[in-house]
Amino acid sequence: MKNIGILLSGRGSNFEAIARNVSAGKIQAKIALVVSNRGQAPGLETACKMGLRTLFIASKGKEREVYDQEVVAALKGAQVDLVCLAGFMRILSPVFVRAFPGRILNIHPALLPAFPGLDAQKQALDYGVKFSGCTVHIVDEGMDTGPIVRQAVVPVLDEDTVETLSARILAEEHRIYSEAVCLMIEDKIRIEGRRVVLKK
Ligand code: GRF
Repeated sequence: MKNIGILLSGRGSNFEAIARNVSAGKIQAKIALVVSNRGQAPGLETACKMGLRTLFIASKGKEREVYDQEVVAALKGAQVDLVCLAGFMRILSPVFVRAFPGRILNIHPALLPAFPGLDAQKQALDYGVKFSGCTVHIVDEGMDTGPIVRQAVVPVLDEDTVETLSARILAEEHRIYSEAVCLMIEDKIRIEGRRVVLKK
């Protein structure tokens, strides 16, 4: 059985969606550790209540590499095979990315490569696109640049606010993140250049 490690900083709804699918047996893996860089993250409390192993590793005042080494050590200690960033509001240093090459997933609330970085839903609304969505990608050393595993499209409506658009996108995030986790856990994909393709 493969081990999943979750990193989060806040609400944790993507983590919850993954955890539900693990409990339901749709994702055949174990959530071995949930780490937060914020002690007050609601997602950390949810994980506690679910009886999962949780860890608050404070990032304040630590150099990025020092912090990342600490998190990597905790994940390795829990024998994590796949790391899922679920609203983890930090950029990973190369130290982290190289510790889990090709084995870190992130979810971004836009159709990458459009609108990387913060406030992606607001960026999409301000730009005036008619469709946006979300992307699950493998994390490389850039910001929101790694190979794309899954995407889902949602319409942008005239009456949308950041809140309504975010909610429409979030429902798709919860669906495609688990799909991508399954593909990784079941070893069903390979990477050709930038393209993630299904193994034949
Ligand atoms: C999601 O919109 C995700 O795409 C982004 O951060 C948000 C996290 O939400 N990376 P949650 O903590 O999973 O509810």
